[in-house]
Amino acid sequence: MAARFLVPLPALVGLLLFLCVGPGAEGGKVLVVPMDGSHWLSMKEAVQELHGRGHQMVVVSPDLNMHIKEEDFFTLTTYAIPYTQDEFNHLLLGQTYLVFERMHFLKMFWKSVESLKSVALVFQRSCEELLRNKELVRQLNASSFDVVLTDPVYPCGAVLAKYLSLPAVFFLRSIPCDLDFEGTRCPNPSSYIPRLLTMNSDHMTFPQRVKNMLYPLALKYICHISFTPYASLASELLQREVSVVDVFSFASMWLFRGDFVLDYPRPIMPNMVFIGGINCGHRKPLSQFGEINVKVPPLGQ
Ligand SMILES: *[C@@H]1O[C@H](CO)[C@@H](O)[C@H](O)[C@H]1NC(C)=O
Repeated sequence: MAARFLVPLPALVGLLLFLCVGPGAEGGKVLVVPMDGSHWLSMKEAVQELHGRGHQMVVVSPDLNMHIKEEDFFTLTTYAIPYTQDEFNHLLLGQTYLVFERMHFLKMFWKSVESLKSVALVFQRSCEELLRNKELVRQLNASSFDVVLTDPVYPCGAVLAKYLSLPAVFFLRSIPCDLDFEGTRCPNPSSYIPRLLTMNSDHMTFPQRVKNMLYPLALKYICHISFTPYASLASELLQREVSVVDVFSFASMWLFRGDFVLDYPRPIMPNMVFIGGINCGHRKPLSQFGEINVKVPPLGQ
């Protein structure tokens, strides 16, 4: 139990960094371990804002990537991964055509799992290259960062944070398989929390509740393939048995890009903060009376 009461201190560090950094506050050193693709586009805005508030931002990324390019508001540190650009593009983007295909549900499921597996393997390999890169780890360790900001969709940053004994702040939309609930030991009642892909609401009939219990089982397999390698890697580096849930419990702070206007209400823990909308920096104001033409069909049709 003792460990549970240690959480608030690093959580406070994360919270202070994010929320209370007024003028005159001392800048911190933030190590950013992002997820490539659209995830990075959301995180980039947070990185820019933190830089604007006087923090030193260092982004670490594989040298082959889609969107993570040099910018003037962070220092980019890259490391090599064992792929050519062609292999990388093929593995990551080769299956995107599936989105437009029409095929039997089971075949689609199987093909999607295959595609997820190959993508997961690329990120796993990249993570191994990072964590086993002695020179880079030594350099990061010597840089005395205050906190790691990371997207846990593949929890490489979480393992790195633990390895460097730094508090981790997770930045995410959501995580499958209820790993946020499990990692924080948050209450998680199936009776009113609609599960991913079920299309249930927070008011369920009995059959819907049964569906709510069954759907997560199929996802468990996908989460097993995606996340178990990080638990193994953490076990190896930390020289103790680490489970997938342990890896997700490394977070001191969870910043969710959502809110209860968009999502159904759920229990949360004190280290979960909802920051929905922060990635909508370029929003247009809504007019009081919309300019959308709603075509109302004539009565009786
Ligand atoms: C980081 O540096 C500290 C102090 O020199 C050392 O004790 C620790 O083992 C290093 N950690 C890693 C992961 O290299």
